[in-house]
Amino acid sequence: MVAKDHLKGYRARVEEVLARVLPSPETVPADLHEAMRYATLGGGKRLRACLVYATGTALGATPEALDPAAAAVELIHAYSLVHDDLPCMDDDDMRRGRPSCHKAFGEATALLAGDALQTQAFAVLALSEALTPLARVRMVADLAHASGSLGMAGGQALDLKAGPTATIEVLEERHGRKTGALMHAAVRLGALAAVPEVPPALDDYGRTLGLAFQIADDLLDVEGVALVVGKTVGADAAAGKATFASVLGISEARRRARGLYEEALASLKFLGDNGGLLASIAHYAVERDH
Ligand code: IPE
Ligand code: IPE
Ligand code: MG
Ligand code: MG
Ligand code: MG
Repeated sequence: MVAKDHLKGYRARVEEVLARVLPSPETVPADLHEAMRYATLGGGKRLRACLVYATGTALGATPEALDPAAAAVELIHAYSLVHDDLPCMDDDDMRRGRPSCHKAFGEATALLAGDALQTQAFAVLALSEALTPLARVRMVADLAHASGSLGMAGGQALDLKAGPTATIEVLEERHGRKTGALMHAAVRLGALAAVPEVPPALDDYGRTLGLAFQIADDLLDVEGVALVVGKTVGADAAAGKATFASVLGISEARRRARGLYEEALASLKFLGDNGGLLASIAHYAVERDH
């Protein structure tokens, strides 16, 4: 099977797990559960879930053992997008090709949907029967760390303060936290389903890939086509936020993303042929059009 088909299979797989772990839209309060399902299901590239499956299977875990972590990272990601789009954050009306959660359900419900998606992520990990108790606890701790003030939430706080100029170090810090931390966690959780300690080269891969992914996101905000990207383009410039694209220019930012891709590939060498899928994900993260 080629990488594209593997990834398609993992996308379908996590979609099914997510549909199962989210409360039904009939469960009271129905509007909250509808909003949670709306924000999570039927859209998104599922790149973080694919990272969990690709890392875990490369190290010998079964897909069943990886389902909880794959669902958990996508639940955290969905929550982060709901909150990121709120008027008090990026104030974006479009997400995944349709109205953002607060546009469809109102701000208060969107805020609560984000809260509940976040807690659901930890419940899914904690209750997962396919994992040893130690693996569960380590995954919960890793995901909490990556999502919190030292990771994604902290990165979003830095993003709110972002102005029109920034050094590369400042951009790396902000991007590494707001986006890189969760991608890195996806790699770590996949590994922890298979082995007790995450191989350091996979930490390198996760960090490098996360940064490259956000540089590509910045480039799409400048060069992307809204209908293809599925979200507002030009949002960073409109908000006056420095990005890799604005600070380095398009071609240098792209060169940097490709350089990080090469670094990510080099980190995978120790996996031999088993690293093929992770290499394809890294390529896609940098060369995508949405
Ligand atoms: C968008 O992430 C937000 C960022 C962290 C840049 P994705 O581009 O992975 O969003 P979906 O899940 O495919 O919609
Ligand atoms: C989003 O970064 C990061 C998180 C949601 C944590 P962006 O604000 O650049 O993401 P998009 O462009 O809205 O998807
Ligand atoms: Mg943002
Ligand atoms: Mg945004
Ligand atoms: Mg963006």
